[in-house]
Amino acid sequence: MKNTKSFISLALTSMLAAVVIAGCGTGNQTATGQAPAPSAGDKKTLVMVTSADYKPYEYHDLSSGKDEIVGFDIDIAKYIAKELGYELQINDMNFDGLIPALQTNRADFVMAGMTATPEREKNADFSTIYYDAKNTIVAKKDSNLTKPEQLAGKKVAVQLGSIQEGAARELAKTVSGLQITSLNKLPEIVEEVKAGRVDAAIIEDTVAKGFVANNDSLQFTTMEENEKNGSAVAFPKGSPHVQKFNEVIKKMQENGEMDKLIQKWFGQ
Ligand code: ARG
Repeated sequence: MKNTKSFISLALTSMLAAVVIAGCGTGNQTATGQAPAPSAGDKKTLVMVTSADYKPYEYHDLSSGKDEIVGFDIDIAKYIAKELGYELQINDMNFDGLIPALQTNRADFVMAGMTATPEREKNADFSTIYYDAKNTIVAKKDSNLTKPEQLAGKKVAVQLGSIQEGAARELAKTVSGLQITSLNKLPEIVEEVKAGRVDAAIIEDTVAKGFVANNDSLQFTTMEENEKNGSAVAFPKGSPHVQKFNEVIKKMQENGEMDKLIQKWFGQ
């Protein structure tokens, strides 16, 4: 009797936990600003998660009076969803929550200017690479901080869970006294540099460019690393969507659509 009771309460507790996990995290917002479509698991809708703090890949555009997530990744995702006959739902969350969202089946894929790394490949499958970026040091113009070795004894901000955080950790092994501040959103990171609460930030060139263009006091310098950061779509391990996505990405690269979007969002 006692055992049955505790079994039931255990079952109830774990059901509750499952509900809590399913309900947390995402700020259910669709790209069109309409009511959220059905969630992951519904055949006709693909749920994408992103961290919409990364202009021009994905960011909140308020210019039309409503809050809309737009950008390079969003246009690619819309194109792919349309080609494959799916509705697209986009949920915004912190960058470090994206891969966990895949692992707990709260999303079908991630597009977030996310670099395919061997580390991440342990927990997610990746599409082919669709765009490259390089790390830069963003600092005040008068700071003279342009090289990694100059970051000795300096405070450096990076995005939590990003490869820039990894790069900063790697640097800290050889550059003495480098202190790392990890933050959730890119605009916060840039604000910290502007306010002088940190000395520098490590940000990809594709994104640093825009922030620096809008902030006279800042500059960015590309770091001389050998590797490029290639953005790819991330999926849950074993996802049935990888191959189809790769086919559409290939098509976009061949029919000029990808170049058109690169021109639109990066102006090059
Ligand atoms: N490419 C870097 C990474 O994968 C940074 C991506 C940040 N993306 C974002 N939407 N905030 O770690």
